[in-house]
Amino acid sequence: MKVWTDDAEAGLLDRFGNRGSTFLYLAGSLAARAVSVTMPLRLPSWNTEFGLLPIFEMNLPEGVLRERLRLAFAKATGTFDDVDLLGIVGRSQVGRIRYTGDTEQLDEDVPFQSVDEILARRRDDGLFRHLLEKFAPSSGISGVQPKILVRDDSALPRMTDRLSESHRGATHIVKFWEQNEYPQLAANEYFCLKVAEKCRLDVPPFRLAEDALALVVDRFDLRPDRTYRGFEDFCVLNARRTDQKYRGSYETSIMKRFAQFARSPHLGEDLERLFTLIVVNCALRNGDAHLKNFGIVYDHLEGDVRLAPVYDLVTTSVYLPNDSLALTLNGTTKWPAANALQRLGETQIGASPAQIREILQRVRDAIWATAEEVRAYIHDHPAFAAIGNRMLQQWAEGATHSLQMASA
Ligand SMILES: Nc1ncnc2c1ncn2[C@@H]1O[C@H](COP(=O)(O)OP(=O)(O)OP(=O)(O)O)[C@@H](O)[C@H]1O
Ligand SMILES: [Mg+2]
Repeated sequence: MKVWTDDAEAGLLDRFGNRGSTFLYLAGSLAARAVSVTMPLRLPSWNTEFGLLPIFEMNLPEGVLRERLRLAFAKATGTFDDVDLLGIVGRSQVGRIRYTGDTEQLDEDVPFQSVDEILARRRDDGLFRHLLEKFAPSSGISGVQPKILVRDDSALPRMTDRLSESHRGATHIVKFWEQNEYPQLAANEYFCLKVAEKCRLDVPPFRLAEDALALVVDRFDLRPDRTYRGFEDFCVLNARRTDQKYRGSYETSIMKRFAQFARSPHLGEDLERLFTLIVVNCALRNGDAHLKNFGIVYDHLEGDVRLAPVYDLVTTSVYLPNDSLALTLNGTTKWPAANALQRLGETQIGASPAQIREILQRVRDAIWATAEEVRAYIHDHPAFAAIGNRMLQQWAEGATHSLQMASA
């Protein structure tokens, strides 16, 4: 199939050997056409023995969405591997890469779906199934939980209409959940994102459905002219497959790796944001902060490379009481005490003890203020009480254990 970057052809991707794939850049392409900061233009092909190269695997649906697509399309293709899946969702993806058949032109025409309708309507299983069915083939987005990409231009008042005729790509991500397995997951993520926002981290606009069964997030890779920015997650930067997303450490696989690929006058600021985000994950007891839940963004492959905005924050320990870190810190996946986070900050961003104390205090204040909002929401939404109260417990434990210095 053809691989496109920023609306131009970049190269060809094909199956290779028994189970692998190969990618070849188009002769004479510009360096800026490259598909990843990890894969510069070159004459020889880029090959892998197994599956797809990380940048091409990055947005493949996992979990429920993948299963839905397999059921719908496996009959037609006979088999169903990653290349088949990319052939289906490749025309509408997170980030700046698109895929089409080798004789096709780009055609990113995602159906319109009112975001307000999703947020306001009390949902029965019917709407959930309908949305998943309708949008799954244009949802090139990773993750285990069911989610779709939708287009609602009207919900983006800051957008110009100039290019709307040629750019009809998705504008929002709608996240649903397996209600029996993870009750109240949408509200859980909603309040965790609130904490991040109060820590002055960069969080895209997000809204919780009235019935709390869906979370709608604006795409942070969408530019005002409706083209898309480059986005790469840390599986790609670490040359790992998706099934290796829980491998690595926060020190090397996240912080050092970011410093290796970041390029901008704001490096110091971004490193502090990344450190703060790791602190937030620990304090909120999010055991799912794996390699795919951090990313970089860029407008031009050879220009500034910045830390991606925050996404996918959840207090997972309310569902898995024995949950722990997704990656190691200081050689262990145990929730860190404040002094371990202090060491991380001192060694990875060169911050002074006073600066680190200030960051930890900022996170505590944010948790404290958001806890008030959680209490108010519990008051008005009794169905959230069980999970909400467990979240408050986990946050209190996290704030004491991971944010409070022994000497403070
Ligand atoms: N606001 C956003 N804009 C653009 N891309 C996003 C945004 N939020 C998330 N993504 C992309 O979508 C992917 C899936 O989203 P998310 O991590 O929230 O889902 P998830 O199913 O909860 O993931 P997991 O499998 O880690 O539990 C992310 O890894 C990232 O690549
Ligand atoms: Mg995720």
